[in-house]
Formats: sequence, C-alpha cells, structure tokens
Amino acid sequence: MDKRKEKTVFNSLKRKIRKRDATIAVIGLGYVGLPLAVEMAKSGLNVYGIDVNAEKVEMVNKGRSYIQDVSHRDLRTVTRKRRLVATTDFAVLRDSDVIDICVPTPLRKTKDPDISFVIDAVEQIAKYLKPGQLVILESTTYPGTTEEVMLPRLESTGLKVGRDFFLAFSPERVDPGNPKFKTTNIPKVVGGVTANCTKVACDLYSLSMEHIVPVSSPTVAEMVKLLENTFRSVNIGLVNEMCLMCDRMNIDVWQVIEAAATKPFGFLKFYPGPGLGGHCIPIDPFYLSWKAKMAGFEPRFIELAGQINSSMPDYVVSKVNNALNESRKSINGSKVLVLGAAYKRNVNDTRESPAVDVIRLLKEKGGRVDYSDPHVEAIEVDGVRMKGVRLTGRKVKSYDCVVIVTDHSAFDYNMIVKNSRAIVDTRNALKDFDSITIRRI
Ligand SMILES: NC(=O)c1ccc[n+]([C@@H]2O[C@H](COP(=O)([O-])OP(=O)(O)OC[C@H]3O[C@@H](n4cnc5c(N)ncnc54)[C@H](O)[C@@H]3O)[C@@H](O)[C@H]2O)c1
Repeated sequence: MDKRKEKTVFNSLKRKIRKRDATIAVIGLGYVGLPLAVEMAKSGLNVYGIDVNAEKVEMVNKGRSYIQDVSHRDLRTVTRKRRLVATTDFAVLRDSDVIDICVPTPLRKTKDPDISFVIDAVEQIAKYLKPGQLVILESTTYPGTTEEVMLPRLESTGLKVGRDFFLAFSPERVDPGNPKFKTTNIPKVVGGVTANCTKVACDLYSLSMEHIVPVSSPTVAEMVKLLENTFRSVNIGLVNEMCLMCDRMNIDVWQVIEAAATKPFGFLKFYPGPGLGGHCIPIDPFYLSWKAKMAGFEPRFIELAGQINSSMPDYVVSKVNNALNESRKSINGSKVLVLGAAYKRNVNDTRESPAVDVIRLLKEKGGRVDYSDPHVEAIEVDGVRMKGVRLTGRKVKSYDCVVIVTDHSAFDYNMIVKNSRAIVDTRNALKDFDSITIRRI
C-alpha cells in the first residue's frame, strides 16, 4: 500500500515539474533566493517569493532589484507577468508544490552556528506541509542539518518522507559579481533523503540549470559545500601566511605567486589580501569545525586558517603605520582614506568586510578615517554610520595615506597614484605602477 502511494505521489509531482505546472515558493529573497526565484520564474514556473522583510517584498513586486546580479529588467519581466509574486505571508506555502529555503545561516558571537532562521522557516513549512510537496534547503549549513533538524520537524506532522513528501539539500554556489558563472551554469549538487527525493529535486533544477550533480544523501551535499569553502579559506590562509613570511624576508610575494602559477598542473592561484569577507568564507568553515568537534574531532586547518586570515587587518594597519612613519607621522592625528568598503571587487556587499576592521583599527589608533567606494554609499563601524566620500584629485591629496582595501575596477588608479602622498595596496591593484609612494602588502 505504502509503495503504491509513494509511486503515485512521486509521479504526480514529477509530472507537474516536467510540465512546468509546479508552483515554487522560495523562502528568503536575498543574494541567493532572489536570483534563484527569478531564474525559476524565467523557466516558466510560477514562483512565490517569501521574505520576512516587507520592504524587500514591496521592492520585488515593484520590479526593483536590490541585488546587483539581478537586473531590474529581468525582475520586471517576471513580476509583470505575475510569474514571480513576493509576499510576507507564509500561507502561500499551502498552494506550493516545491519549497526552497534560502535564509541566512550566520555565526553566533561564540562562532557557533546559528540555524535559527532555518528552524523558523521549517516551522512555517510544517504548518502547511501536505502530501506531494518537495522541500529543499539551500542555505549553507553543517552536515546533518537536513536529516537531524529538518526531517524530525517535518515528520512530526504525521507525514512521512519519501512516501508523502520529499526532502533534499542542494548547496547554493553562486559567486556574486562573477560575469561568467551564474545560477544557470554553475553545476548544482543535489542530495535527497531517499532516492526519489533526489530524483524529483534533480528534475526541478534541470528546468533552469545546465548541469546537475546528484549525490547519495543530504549530508554528503552539505559536506560538499563546506569542503569547497574550507578549501578556499585554508588556501587563502596559506597564501596570507606566505605574504607575512615574504614580507619578513623581503621577497615580492605577488611575483612568487604569478611565477608559481605558470606550472600547468598541481598549483592553484590564490592571492593574499586584507582579510576574508562576505557571508560564506569567513563563516562556513566554522559550521564544519563546530560539527567536527561535536563528533570528537579537532579540525586544525580550519582554526589555523581562521587565525591567520583574521590577523590580516592588523597587518594592513601596521603597513599604514610604517608608511606614515617614513614621513615622520603617526596614525594618531593622520588623515587616512580607505578605498573600497565592499568585501570584494565590483560588488556592493559589505558583510564581514575587512574594510570595516581596517577602519575600526585605524580609528582606535586615533586616525581620522574616511572611505570611498563607488558601490557602497554608507557603512556602519562600531554602530557609527559613515558616508563614503567622492573621489577627486583634490580630495585624495588631502590625505596622509590611502589604503586600497578593495580593488574595484571603477577606481581611477592613475588619478589615485598621481595625487596620493602614501599608498598601501593590499590587492596588488597598482602592479603596473612604479612609484615610491606605493607599499604593497
Ligand atoms: N551570498 C552568497 O554569495 C552565498 C553564496 C552561497 C551560499 N550562500 C548561503 O545562502 C544562504 C542565504 O544567504 P544570502 O546571502 O542570500 O542571505 P541574505 O541575507 O542576502 O538573504 C536572506 C534573506 O532571508 C530573509 N529571511 C530571514 N529569515 C527568514 C525567514 N524565517 N523567512 C523568510 N525570510 C527570511 C532575510 O530577510 C533576507 O532577505 C546562507 O546560508 C548563505 O551562507 C550565500
């Protein structure tokens, strides 16, 4: 009886998805959820976008994008046809065949995972869960979240996974600001609780994505994402350590990296910088180390990379100190201009940005600090709002030191080099310039 019921529920959802008759609800319309909702709507599905932030909901419904990678035009096309409708009301889950969760997964102050947003979303889903629905978690999280945290809550409704509803994890790998790889052409890893959960989730993604990679379980899929981001964090940590080492030995680390990268196998290029930023790399490895410690395993690479990477803003400030020292000045009382507030080039995201740490440290030492960023109008440093300054030759000239924290391509580097008294370049943005005012990290 169970087997027959499972087959009917599975076939009916599969059919709906294949015929693009399925209605999708995307919970969380941020950097991940909004592009996904738009792509799904573009592929011909009806999409509800649910967010607790009423302002975002209103903007989406007006076709006004607040995410750089989603154009107003694309958003308007799907909202005008009402293919995408945003709401704060979770009751639309009742009419949804697929529910995709893209809510934040930050760290607590203690660096432990905070999955409260995921739990809130799952509790809403449990209220409306009905036979034939597929639930997918896309938020990055520790291995076990889907099966240990979500599954019991969803099954407490009396419905059974694989028979009545389907459950999978599929990590989001979007790289904001990347012009080459977008939601549709980044391979999508999918791991379901049962084989049918995986199959039906793969069917869904293949409507709008080019390459699907099924794996055997949600836990494997959760771990895939954490391996990817830990790999980045550890390699950035290694190259940052190389940078500190080369500085001590007076070796140009940037030249070393470029020359090493000519090796056609066995080497991958990573660059040093002012520290990690964004919602992923500084956070995700700690989700993994927390879970590993729970299993009695001490993950040493993650902790070490975290220590080195988080020490980089201090190193940048020591470089500013040295630069000012050469003209018999101190940070205390000097005017310092930080270029770039976003965590990486050509984006407007300031979450966990090392620029904020650099500014805070300079201010703590008595520096009179401003910042300029063509993508970021204002930031908050220790609860104080700072507005970015407009960059002109005269303005640049008025500072004792300029620090390039983010190498946006919109910066006029000729003008900056021409007018700066001293420059600390943390990104090798000025590699083509030869001036005694430039100090690289
Ligand atoms: N930003 C990235 O580049 C990126 C890349 C890959 C994976 N991720 C992962 O994707 C997840 C989402 O990240 P993001 O960058 O899109 O976050 P975000 O903060 O940009 O967006 C999350 C959205 O969820 C909403 N929200 C919070 N709680 C909610 C709830 N209970 N119900 C409905 N909406 C709720 C917020 O208002 C916000 O709009 C995280 O787990 C993150 O680690 C992010």
